[in-house]
Amino acid sequence: MRVVHPDHPLIAHKLTYLRDKRTDSPTFRRLAEELMTLLAYEATRDVRVEPFEIETPVAPTTGIKLSNPKPLIVPILRAGLGMLEGMVRLLPSAEVGFLGMQRDEETLAITTYANRLPADLSGRQVYALDPMLATGGSMADALRFLIDRGASDITAVCLLAAPEGIERLQREMADVAPPVTLVVGAIDERLNEHGYIVPGLGDAGDRLYGVV
Ligand code: URA
Repeated sequence: MRVVHPDHPLIAHKLTYLRDKRTDSPTFRRLAEELMTLLAYEATRDVRVEPFEIETPVAPTTGIKLSNPKPLIVPILRAGLGMLEGMVRLLPSAEVGFLGMQRDEETLAITTYANRLPADLSGRQVYALDPMLATGGSMADALRFLIDRGASDITAVCLLAAPEGIERLQREMADVAPPVTLVVGAIDERLNEHGYIVPGLGDAGDRLYGVV
């Protein structure tokens, strides 16, 4: 697995306000989208493109456009939804699939409760979005789900990661070729005994959408 951790002051600045417990939900949602757009710039570095001819007012030239099939963006429900707008802002012609992964707060076990994805993902570039890479369990399950459907070109994007989550994903994705790319806004200190990232930002889903 290739880990990309972009070093940019705007990423650190937006993350600071996401972490701050005084930040309200509307502001948190806006910042999560903006941060995602910055990470999307890095995550799409290898997006597939092809040349095509255009004419400027002055002369013909060759430009590039996104290749078909278009990339597929997969927010992992529910918190990944908070990153979707920030990603489609840069890739408006991408298609969007949905995958619902849920963590049992007691056992930390993961279950899949929803999916709306093409049956065959072979040949698709897939971007999986989940803000918090904590234990790495739900992301590993989500990526395995996508790989089982034929995906072989996967970029996972997380706003924050714990070292434990990165290590687990490294282990679980070690046999995947071509390697999965992981783009993260920051790598924090550790997980606490409740599976929260420290210092982290708390429960990303609750901070985006409230405790429902
Ligand atoms: N999920 C969250 O929303 N926050 C954490 O700190 C860990 C998992």
